[in-house]
Amino acid sequence: MFECRMASLRQRTTAGAPSAPSASAPRPFLKWAGGKQQLLPALLEAVPDQYERYFEPFIGGGALFFALAHAETAHASILGDANAELIATYEAVRSDLEPLVLRLRRLERAYLAQDSDGRAALYYRVRESRPRGRAAIAARFIFLNKTCYNGLYRVNSRGLFNVPHGRYRAPKILDRGVLEAASRALASAELACRDFEATCADAREGDFVYFDPPFHPLSVTSSFTQYTSTSFGWADQERLRAAIDRLTERGVHVLLSDSPHPRIVDLYESGGYELRRIPARRAINSKAAGRGAIDELLVGNRALLARRRSLSRPTIPPSPETDDGSARGTAARRRRTARPR
Ligand SMILES: C[S@@+](CC[C@H](N)C(=O)[O-])C[C@H]1O[C@@H](n2cnc3c(N)ncnc32)[C@H](O)[C@@H]1O
Repeated sequence: MFECRMASLRQRTTAGAPSAPSASAPRPFLKWAGGKQQLLPALLEAVPDQYERYFEPFIGGGALFFALAHAETAHASILGDANAELIATYEAVRSDLEPLVLRLRRLERAYLAQDSDGRAALYYRVRESRPRGRAAIAARFIFLNKTCYNGLYRVNSRGLFNVPHGRYRAPKILDRGVLEAASRALASAELACRDFEATCADAREGDFVYFDPPFHPLSVTSSFTQYTSTSFGWADQERLRAAIDRLTERGVHVLLSDSPHPRIVDLYESGGYELRRIPARRAINSKAAGRGAIDELLVGNRALLARRRSLSRPTIPPSPETDDGSARGTAARRRRTARPR
């Protein structure tokens, strides 16, 4: 059943000009640096046809999560991110939708009624505010995301959001239909602000984990995003590879998207993972020149899992008592070599 829905979703997402998504189809409600919306066709191709639970430890804007939620809602989803305000926002969309919508409506009215100086003043007042309570944190987060420069997310070393005001003519600060669809998709998801290792710690055989870590910069100057007060450095990339090795040993399906930096390529090629480069356009960059085509690397463990399965198949030598060529002996041999679940 799920396979059929996955196939039709792939078809819809890969077919030439996509028709407008239906109002109720879940999709990201935030503009997120490194968001994977335009890579969806390639990502969906790489999703296993069958899996138990879905894990996404670097949820960000959640492009793949929402696409899969559209295909199949029966999968339990375990989502995480190190950005505490982002997770509080997801929790509010899931569980406090009405108070959130009320706050966003008030902010949208106040903002759109102002001239450009008034809008900037409101933006900086909201940016300086430190609300408490999920709905208020989420309203501030979504408002800043829709009205800041280029939809960027960047914090300073104290973890404070420091992106300047943007200049959109009529930003849609409240999109009720999109929030409602996201809320339904998130209804049964487990959400936590935590490091990626903790989010996938309990993934087991048959589960699927999609990792989309901060893009390893291709040059010293190309790192434009700081999602959290501590950046994701080389030691974290190695920690991620070690976590993926452990998941592979446990029989968990893994898909990783990362930068095609030679060190990243080497990190996974040396472990026997499958690598594929796909062209992608960077939608968010402070400089227009930085929004050109940059390849993205997809890393998978399909072949390693197949090898693991074939190695775990017992090869029991024929027993002299029953393997006499008779029907009874053949049935006994079949029972002994049946694939373990
Ligand atoms: C490239 S973005 C994910 C984009 C997402 N796939 C999408 O479609 O929008 C990377 C995310 O990793 C989060 N992050 C950074 N370091 C982390 C860590 N150590 N553990 C978990 N999440 C982390 C950031 O807050 C950011 O949201």
